[in-house]
Amino acid sequence: TEIIIVKSQEEAGRIYARCTADLIRRKPDCVLGLATGSSPLAAYQALADLVHKEGIDVSQVRGFALDEYAGLDPAHPQSYRSTIDRTVVKPLGLDPAKVRVPNGNLETIKDAGRVYDQAIEDAGGVDLQILGIGTDGHIGFNEPGSSLASGTRIKTLTEQTRIDNARFFDNDMDQVPTHCITQGIGTILKARQLVLLAFGAGKAEAVAESVEGGISSFCPASALQMHPHATVIVDEAAASRLR
Ligand code: F6R
Repeated sequence: TEIIIVKSQEEAGRIYARCTADLIRRKPDCVLGLATGSSPLAAYQALADLVHKEGIDVSQVRGFALDEYAGLDPAHPQSYRSTIDRTVVKPLGLDPAKVRVPNGNLETIKDAGRVYDQAIEDAGGVDLQILGIGTDGHIGFNEPGSSLASGTRIKTLTEQTRIDNARFFDNDMDQVPTHCITQGIGTILKARQLVLLAFGAGKAEAVAESVEGGISSFCPASALQMHPHATVIVDEAAASRLR
């Protein structure tokens, strides 16, 4: 795993943006793996700036998001469909029909994981997957204990994750979904390149464990060690527990 220590989220964003813009030039219909959460926001912004400044044609770019809440209307402002549209599709000017988010509809969720993984495969696989990391080492909604070989599937959200996300639902736990659908760790590992972004002291322990600890399902992000082309971009605070 390559580790890059940066001064700011903006600097990390510019590295991601340069790499992604070059990819889009080389392969106009490339497949981007997308994450929600706060960590990638500066990267999406930097990419949008670059795309507009250099007039890069993104009309063919395809995307697959990592995860979605189960049983939440995609039109809900806190659904990951809405979040990806707001933070990625709109600012970059992507074709929304080319950007998929796992389908959290409870009636079809049993098959939705298999369908999603098949769609990724049919698209030729993800070229560049951006990732954040949870303080417990999760990637996507793969919490500690998730199989390192897992495909996209329904998962129960941990109590801690529901508490953490309650701020997006009027701090009302009753509104926070109880389940999600997430790309598996096995799905994520199939992407040709992984870029994990982590900022702040709160992520330092999880970053050190992921990069320098043993490979274990108890730290899902440690699976990056098995990937031939994984880059971890961290600020100094998130790097502070590395040896
Ligand atoms: C987002 C996701 C999560 C986040 C992680 C970090 O789609 O799957 O794994 O990447 O929880 O969240 P932030 O970036 O908000 O610290």
